[in-house]
Amino acid sequence: MSFSTIPTLVGIAGSLRKGSYNAALLRAAAEVAPSSVHLEQATIAGIPLYDGDLEAASGLPATVRELQEKIANSAGLLIVTPEYNSSIPGVLKNAIDWLSRGGDAKRVFGGRPVAITGASPGRLGTVLSQTAWLPVLRALGLNLWPGPRLLVSEVHKAFDASGVLVDERVRSQLREFVTGFAEFATGRAPRE
Ligand code: FNR
Repeated sequence: MSFSTIPTLVGIAGSLRKGSYNAALLRAAAEVAPSSVHLEQATIAGIPLYDGDLEAASGLPATVRELQEKIANSAGLLIVTPEYNSSIPGVLKNAIDWLSRGGDAKRVFGGRPVAITGASPGRLGTVLSQTAWLPVLRALGLNLWPGPRLLVSEVHKAFDASGVLVDERVRSQLREFVTGFAEFATGRAPRE
């Protein structure tokens, strides 16, 4: 039996809705990722609201532990964030807060390569949200990929009604973004 040694990047989209553009962007990122990595589309669905009493009584929810393990075993984390009221969406911050608990923040996040992107129907394409994430990434000791930002603006024009990326310019920017991050996270030049 042979085991694949291909490094995994874990991607999480910060929206729970089925038709999420950010989830669609993550799907497209997995499609254009270089063959030198596997981009796993993880989910924050099912993670409850953080409650210190719940944590004290029952520890971390299984959904949180599972996602912690995925990230801890990955070569890097890709965050695909919506923008709400010029900042971070609560559901994703809530998930990250849970993931930092259980005495595991260092194991899960410490020094781990991370890249952030996001999509919005507006003109600024989540620039404010991406910027608002920076102090959080820093607090967790993540290792931010210093490559160019990818801000997907007017996202409703980039994807069709079934969530397929139809804008070839965005596809090529996304390929460049994921390829650059994969190289940073794995320390390997990408295979075509
Ligand atoms: C938004 N939206 C939004 N967009 C933006 O570019 N800047 C903003 O400040 C906000 N604020 C905002 C607040 C709230 C509460 C909601 C629900 C939405 C619009 C947002 O970008 C749009 O709904 C996206 O489609 C959300 O991402 P998903 O769910 O498609 O991934």
